[in-house]
Amino acid sequence: MSQKKPFYITTPIYYPSDKLHIGHSYTTVACDALARFKRMQGREVLLLTGTDEHGQKIQDKAASKGVTPKEYVDEIVEGKGGVKDLWKLMNISYDRFIRTTDEYHVKACQRIFETLYNKGDIYKSVYKGHYCKPCETFWTESQLKEGCCPDCGGAVYEAEEEAYFFKTSKYADRLLALYEENPQFIQPESRKNEMISFIKQGLQDTCVSRTTVPWGIPVPFDPKHTMYVWVDALSNYITALGYENDAYNDYDTFWPADIHMVGKEILRFHTILWPAMLMAMEQPLPHRVFGHGWLLLDGGKMSKSKGNVVDPLILCQRYSVDAIRYFLLREIPFGNDGNFSNEALINRINSDLANDLGNLLSRTVAMVEKYFGGSLTNQYAGGAFDAELEEVLGAMPGRVTACMDDLLIPQALQEIFKSIQRANKYIDETAPWALAKDEANRERLAGVLYHLCESLRLAACMLTPFLPETAKKMAQQLGLAEEEITFEQLSFGARSQYTVHKGEALFPRIDAAKELEELVAAQAAMKQQAAPAPEAKPAETTGAPLEHLPEIAFDDFCKVEMRVAKVLGCETIPESKKLLKLTLFDGERERTIMSGIAKWYKPEDLIGRHVGIVANLAARPMLKGKYISEGMVMAADLPDGGASVMFFPQEVAPGSAIH
Ligand code: MSP
Repeated sequence: MSQKKPFYITTPIYYPSDKLHIGHSYTTVACDALARFKRMQGREVLLLTGTDEHGQKIQDKAASKGVTPKEYVDEIVEGKGGVKDLWKLMNISYDRFIRTTDEYHVKACQRIFETLYNKGDIYKSVYKGHYCKPCETFWTESQLKEGCCPDCGGAVYEAEEEAYFFKTSKYADRLLALYEENPQFIQPESRKNEMISFIKQGLQDTCVSRTTVPWGIPVPFDPKHTMYVWVDALSNYITALGYENDAYNDYDTFWPADIHMVGKEILRFHTILWPAMLMAMEQPLPHRVFGHGWLLLDGGKMSKSKGNVVDPLILCQRYSVDAIRYFLLREIPFGNDGNFSNEALINRINSDLANDLGNLLSRTVAMVEKYFGGSLTNQYAGGAFDAELEEVLGAMPGRVTACMDDLLIPQALQEIFKSIQRANKYIDETAPWALAKDEANRERLAGVLYHLCESLRLAACMLTPFLPETAKKMAQQLGLAEEEITFEQLSFGARSQYTVHKGEALFPRIDAAKELEELVAAQAAMKQQAAPAPEAKPAETTGAPLEHLPEIAFDDFCKVEMRVAKVLGCETIPESKKLLKLTLFDGERERTIMSGIAKWYKPEDLIGRHVGIVANLAARPMLKGKYISEGMVMAADLPDGGASVMFFPQEVAPGSAIH
C-alpha cells in the first residue's frame, strides 16, 4: 500500500429538481473511473457525491406538486429510479453520499457562516442586483447578456433587500497568486484564463443570504435570512468529512481534495468563491479543479427546460451500462464539449466494443477450445511478430497511467484499445488456423494463442476501472479469478496457464439501421411517459346561472386599486384554522393581510411568490382586534369550495398595477 495521502475526489452535488439525464451521468462516470483507477493503484480513495437540495427552484417545484420541499427531494433522491438508483445502476463506486438537507451538514454550514461573520468576512448590507432564479445566481448589470442571465439566457429580475455579503473582493490578489503559483489548480488551462480575466474585471463581494427563500439553511444569528445555496452547496466538500460536525471524522485524512470535478459553467464558484471561503476559514485549498465540457444534444446543452434530455436508464437497459460508460468516457474529449447522438453511440459500440474487443475475446477463446481443448500452458516460442505485440503490451499500462494522471480519460482508453487492435492484427499476421493444419506447428500455435490470452488479460486489468462488468466477464472467459485482474500483474508473461470457458458475446453487434428506428421510437415513448401529468383535471362549467352583482360605472371600477405584492412572510395563527397572516411588500411598504386560505395553502407555498392584492381596501381589525388586515389577497373559488390564489411570475415587480 502506498504511503501517499489518501485520494479525495468529488463530483458536483446534483440539483434534484428533476430526474438526472445522461449529461449528469458524464461527470459522475468520469469521477468513478478515476476513483477506481486510483484504488487499483493501491491508493486509499474517497469518492464523494450527493445532492444539493435547497433553493427557490426546489421550493417552487414542490409547491406545484403540493408536497413539502423535503418530500419532493426525498422522492427524487431516494425514490425508485431516483439519483441513488441511477448511480447504483451505473456502477458508481461512491464512498459517501451527502444530502445538503442532512442535519449534520445544516449545522456545520451554520457554524461556518457564523465563523466567517465573527471574523468580519461576512457583513450585513443591502443587495441591489439582478437575480436569475433557475441558476440561483445574482448578476451585476455589466454581467448580464442583453439584459438576461449570461449562463442560461433566461430572464432576471431586479432584487433589493437586506442581505449578508461575503468579502470575496478581499481575496482577489490571493486568488490570482494561487493560480499563478499552482498552474494545475484550474484545468484545463484555457478555463484558467477566463477566471483570471473575471477577477481582473473587478471582483464584487458575494451576496450570501436571502430573506425571501425560506427553503434554505437559516443564518443562525439572524434566522429570517437563509444562506445563499452556493455557500451551503460548496461547503459539502468539507462537511462530508466531518468539518464542524461529528457525523464523520476524517477531515484531516482526506482534506484537501485532490480533484473537484465540475462542469465548466460552475467552475467560477469552485475557483473563486470556494477558495476564497477556504482562505477566510484559514483552511487548506483543494489541489485541482477540473472544469469539463458539456455533452451536447442537437448542438445545445441538454436541459429539461429545453426538452432535449436523453434518459440514461433507457440507454443502459438497451445497450448495457458498460457500453454507455464507454461511450461517455471515450467519445467526449475530456475538457471540451462533445455531441451525443444515437448514431455515434451505436458506431462506438459496434466498432470498438463488438468488433475490436468482443471479437478478440471470442476468437481467442474459441481457438483455445478448438485446438487445445480449452487449456493452454505457456509455450512461448518467440516467433515472428511476438516482439512487436509484447512491446505494445509492455508500454500500455504506463501510457494509460500517464493519461490518467493528466485526466486524459479518452486517451487512456485509446491506449488500451491500441493494444487490443494490435492483438487483432497479430491474429491476421500469425494466422493460427493455418498453423493448426500442421502438427509440427503445435508449439508455435500454443505460443500465438498464449500471446492473445495475455493481451486479453492485460486489457481486462486495465479496463476494470472503466468497464468493471466487462472486465469481469472477460476474466470469467479467460478462467481468471476477479483478484487476478488487478494492477499487480501487469507484465507480459505474469500468468503462465489458461483454462478458458466460452461465454456470451461481450457486446453483440447492432444492426444500426434497424436499431436507430427502434431507439427513436423508444425515446419518444419515454418522453411521452415522462411528460408531466396535468396538475388537475381541467374544471368544467355547469352552465348554471351565475350570481351577479349590480352593474357599476367604469369610474367606480377604477376606484379599486389592485396591485402585485410579494409575500415576504406567512404564518399560521393559533386563534384560527382558516386564516393565514401574510406579510407583503406592495412596491412601497410592507403590509399585513389576513387571508382565509389556510386550508389550501401552507406558508411555504406562498413565501417568495408574487400575488394579486386589493390594495385600497380599508384596513379592518380581525379576531377581536388582535390582527389588522390591510387589504385582500385575490383568489378564485374552486368548485370544491377551495381557493386558488392569483399568482404572478417573478418578473412582475411588486407594486405593478392590475387592470
Ligand atoms: N448543484 C450544482 C453543483 C453544486 S457543487 C457544490 C449543480 N448541479 S446540477 O445538477 O445542475 O449539475 C451537476 C453537474 O452536472 C454539473 O457539473 C454540470 O455541469 C453537469 N452537467 C449537467 N448537464 C450536463 C451536460 N449536458 N453535459 C455535461 N455535464 C453536465 O450545478
